[in-house]
Amino acid sequence: MKAALLGYGTVGKGADAVLKGSGVEVSRILARRPRPELGERLTLDMSDVLGDPDISVVAECIGGYEPAHGFLRASLEAGKSVVSSNKQMIARYLRELVSLARERGLSIAFSAAVGGGIPWLVNLVRTAGADRITGLGGVMNGTTNFILNAMQGGGGDFADALAEAQRLGFAEADPSADIDGIDVRAKISISADLAFDVFLDPETVPVLGIRHITAADVANFRELGLVCRLIGRADRTDSGAAVYAEPMLFGAGSAEQSLPGAMNLISLEAERAGRMSFSGPGAGMGPTGSSVALDILDISRGRSAFDAISCQNVIENDTDGVLHRYYARGFSKLPFEAESRTGDAVITGPVSVSAMHAAVSAALEAGDRPFAASLAGR
Ligand code: HSE
Repeated sequence: MKAALLGYGTVGKGADAVLKGSGVEVSRILARRPRPELGERLTLDMSDVLGDPDISVVAECIGGYEPAHGFLRASLEAGKSVVSSNKQMIARYLRELVSLARERGLSIAFSAAVGGGIPWLVNLVRTAGADRITGLGGVMNGTTNFILNAMQGGGGDFADALAEAQRLGFAEADPSADIDGIDVRAKISISADLAFDVFLDPETVPVLGIRHITAADVANFRELGLVCRLIGRADRTDSGAAVYAEPMLFGAGSAEQSLPGAMNLISLEAERAGRMSFSGPGAGMGPTGSSVALDILDISRGRSAFDAISCQNVIENDTDGVLHRYYARGFSKLPFEAESRTGDAVITGPVSVSAMHAAVSAALEAGDRPFAASLAGR
């Protein structure tokens, strides 16, 4: 079987390496600039991919909304199955692309979009096929886990840790997507879509990032015996789902507290199977490239787990009913009662996710540099 890769950055290169000798031939690679090392396989023109009847799978590793989305649509319209590692684009266009794939009897798979090399989405789909998933979530961004570990380890400076994550190929081209939680928003949206077989507009997911965390916050957490992680969370509700992304503080004994480096740790809760956790490298060339390659191989063998999804039922996101206690600092006016104080921060009583996220937005608009993190399980 022949496949084409769109993009030859970290992920495309990784997928190409894994596919060597696999039985799938990467016969075309679309790149933006001449790359002599790719020889005859290189093309700068997408019509060379679309017009080649021998190519049956097109894997997109470009990133961004366009032209990635247009290229996948055109590939499906040309009768080719598609694979993508592009979480922002998949989160936004999942419903449309799955519908198009189903109309044409083709496959669409995107394991690499969430969890890098971890077989998270395929197991989520598999579990959802025979069980009722009630909730899911966890640490889904390697860059911020790396930064938080560096800061919590003692000597770590935010900027140095970010630069190292960029050097190692974890961070997004624009790392504000990592730091501000936009990356996690896409990943938790896609995960919720598959777990509940629905479609949720990712723009409706409230997000808090770690941009304004300070060394003093980390010292406060240490004193409380807590460690900060940036998490995504989705719970099934009567009317749809409650989906959000925010920093969360985990205590001793939790798997999240000791999660090293850029690792991810994502769990699901299902009515019959119970709670299951998946952990591993969530980013980088080898892990993410492997996921793309495995999606292509699964399609070539006619057994893609993603063939079971529909994701056509559009649902609303409502986080009013999710209550957390929050660590909050840097608000000139915090509209919640403090239950206790730690350093220059407060711990609030139970506050809804929607109310706390609105309070952070208001503080940012007022020119504050607020930081808020929920307390896991409290
Ligand atoms: N920037 C992302 C991360 C890459 O750090 O997790 C993998 O999606």
